[in-house]
Amino acid sequence: MYIAILGRQPAIGIAELEAVYGQASWFSSHSALLEATPDLEHLGGALKAGRVVFDMPRGDWRKVSMKIVNHYAKHWAQHEGKLTLGLSVYDMNADIRDIQKTGLILKSKLKASSASLRLIPNTEPALSTATSHHNKLGLADNKIELLVVASKDRIIVAESIGAQNITKLARRDQNRPKRDAFVGMLPPKLAQIIVNLAVGDTQSQNLTVLDPFCGTGVILQESALMGFKPYGTDLADKMIDFSRINLEWLAEEFHTSKNWHLDQADAMAAKWQPPIDAVAAETYLGQPFSAPPSPGKLTEVRGNCNHIIGSFLENIAPQIASGTPLCLAIPAWRDNYGNFAHLPLLNNLAKLGYKRREFTTVNPEQLLYYRENQIVARELLVIVKA
Ligand SMILES: C[S@@+](CC[C@H](N)C(=O)[O-])C[C@H]1O[C@@H](n2cnc3c(N)ncnc32)[C@H](O)[C@@H]1O
Repeated sequence: MYIAILGRQPAIGIAELEAVYGQASWFSSHSALLEATPDLEHLGGALKAGRVVFDMPRGDWRKVSMKIVNHYAKHWAQHEGKLTLGLSVYDMNADIRDIQKTGLILKSKLKASSASLRLIPNTEPALSTATSHHNKLGLADNKIELLVVASKDRIIVAESIGAQNITKLARRDQNRPKRDAFVGMLPPKLAQIIVNLAVGDTQSQNLTVLDPFCGTGVILQESALMGFKPYGTDLADKMIDFSRINLEWLAEEFHTSKNWHLDQADAMAAKWQPPIDAVAAETYLGQPFSAPPSPGKLTEVRGNCNHIIGSFLENIAPQIASGTPLCLAIPAWRDNYGNFAHLPLLNNLAKLGYKRREFTTVNPEQLLYYRENQIVARELLVIVKA
């Protein structure tokens, strides 16, 4: 059994796990349990993951600490040489000094053995993803991170199998040659989530993943890294050039295949070349706003986006086989009270020829990606061709 520590928007993270592994369940508000071994290189919504070692009824830190010390003092005494240990505590009140104390007790217990312990200092109850990643915790037998996660009534202790590779993610995000502030900056993590929600558990290689609003190609890049064949189209010639240059850069830097297909096309009228195995896109999102738009402006922008995305769905429906999965990031506008204005086409999916993919862990309304100060949220619409 594995536990995954979910990112800033846990509902999106757990939906991604359920999509890719066919099964996941909530453990606490920021974590999920799953049977499969999560592959953190290819998941955008999980920050860390660990193999569950034991669980116990919920209690205070002292009880957890005693159990950890009893279990690991014996276990690590057999080890020859240096061990690095990080402790990360989630969803429970534990003082940083008490967490560190657990590490110090272990350190002193190991003094008489052939093992020596280096403790990673906590500035928060949980080590940041960056700290875990840079210390390579979970990636070697002697680099250990214990994930201690509390639910309402239980506590799980797990041994980390790694953290999100933020170095590689940042390299893809910041070093790709072509970026465009006007079409927006899709974070590679969110692109991974969109591809995973689209492709789901049929992660066989050689699938063609179409992004009909490909822009600078972030989704195409993540598809290539997952071993799929990227197929990108966009209304703007310039964007097709940008996507090509970025994919060429990726092939050099990350050794991905050079087998891709790019074409200029209006998504409302395009005729795509089969096969299309899945569709993953961040669609046209309308203009950015720094404050909620007036009702008149909102009606105009929402109508325009609805027309473009609705016409695209109508256009592609007869071109894809029944059962073809799609994940589209579409716009939803947030007002000052945290309410969202959605696209009207959401009420029309059956008429357009699609049905929603059902999740056991989340409701569709929870799949909204935004930062606190953003007016235009990306709503992740996960559907299949009926
Ligand atoms: C939000 S951006 C997508 C950005 C992209 N995810 C990236 O990685 O850069 C939307 C894209 O949709 C394109 N677009 C707008 N209307 C379109 C249409 N009718 N058909 C195809 N593409 C369109 C724009 O040129 C823009 O590149």
